[in-house]
Amino acid sequence: MATGKVFIFDTTLRDGEQVPGCKLNTKEKLELALQLEDLGVDIIEAGFPISSPGDFESVSLIAKTIKYTTVCGLSRAVQKDIEVAAAALKHAVRPRIHTGIGTSDLHIKAKFNSTKEEILQRAIQCVKWARNFTDDVEFYAEDAGRTDNAYLARVIEAVIKAGATTVNIPDTTGYCLPYQYGQKIAYLVNNVPNIDKAVISCHCHNDLGLATANSIAGVIAGARQIECTINGLGERAGNTSLEEIAMIIKQHKDLGLFTTIKSEQLNPLSRLVSDTMRMPVQPNKAIVGSNAFSHSSGIHQDGFLKDAQTYEIIAPEEVGADSSRIVLTARSGRSALAYRFQKLGFQFNRNDVDVLYNEFLKVADIKKEVENTDLETIAREYLKEAAA
Ligand code: KIV
Ligand code: ZN
Repeated sequence: MATGKVFIFDTTLRDGEQVPGCKLNTKEKLELALQLEDLGVDIIEAGFPISSPGDFESVSLIAKTIKYTTVCGLSRAVQKDIEVAAAALKHAVRPRIHTGIGTSDLHIKAKFNSTKEEILQRAIQCVKWARNFTDDVEFYAEDAGRTDNAYLARVIEAVIKAGATTVNIPDTTGYCLPYQYGQKIAYLVNNVPNIDKAVISCHCHNDLGLATANSIAGVIAGARQIECTINGLGERAGNTSLEEIAMIIKQHKDLGLFTTIKSEQLNPLSRLVSDTMRMPVQPNKAIVGSNAFSHSSGIHQDGFLKDAQTYEIIAPEEVGADSSRIVLTARSGRSALAYRFQKLGFQFNRNDVDVLYNEFLKVADIKKEVENTDLETIAREYLKEAAA
């Protein structure tokens, strides 16, 4: 029976780093790996050692430096790849080799010009090679999202028998709907006789914006590892976002799940990743976007000022974000205006605010956001006229 612990497998330094423009040097990779360890992730996928000498060096240095977290290296189902990954991970306290092959009909035919039987044998073989170097072997069935469940179950049963301790079920193209991905995991739980000998992992891409929802559907169905990245970086539309997963699991105690992520580090690390990878975070990104704790409409501001929980399910300090922001726009109301005047040191009564509100709207209709300096000008003009 699976416990409630969900292992967080961070692949910012591998799938995330594949994003055009996001390439990192060894020093940058090491710095991020240390921060990821501090954040509390369980596994760091540090890179794809055979892909370049630079990546080999990065994985090697991370493996030597990281003390508690499992360090993982990616490989294809190719003996040389696995040997190179093992060499890069030689000094890791907890090394994991991540190896695998495409299992969908499309991958089998178009990529490998092969057959289901041959792919099954290659899957078994690559796990056996990897087990010569470490007891911690993760197998990925690439394009599992579009692989037929009966064949996928055969492959998974065989690789667990060959020694895989984690079985990764990637929705490589981000194709599945959450109920379909959940059913796929449930199918494996119910149809792979030795499934209790391995952890099922969700690796979901975001091509339809469903990566997080699919990963959550996966753990509800029995998976216990989620592969994700800071800021949801990754190939094409990205991977499952680590910060979303950590906070969904934290917020929804009803799921009976937990992670070891220190949530107050999420925003600082998001900024560090964004700066290091030169990849801005969209303002409306959940948890780490600059607008994630901003309130601009009058109805919301009024409720928020009475009780923050009316419009915030997470306190910004819980995820290390700056305090919530009341943004003054033409959609803001009198309570937000009165609140901001008070913050600026002006004591206005209700009648004052009624008059000031009309002046405020004139500015707000011209500017996107009314700043403190605008408010000070409005207030001074008003006080001057009142005194005249
Ligand atoms: O998306 C994918 O299928 C992958 C595998 C290499 C795990 O990134
Ligand atoms: Zn991927």
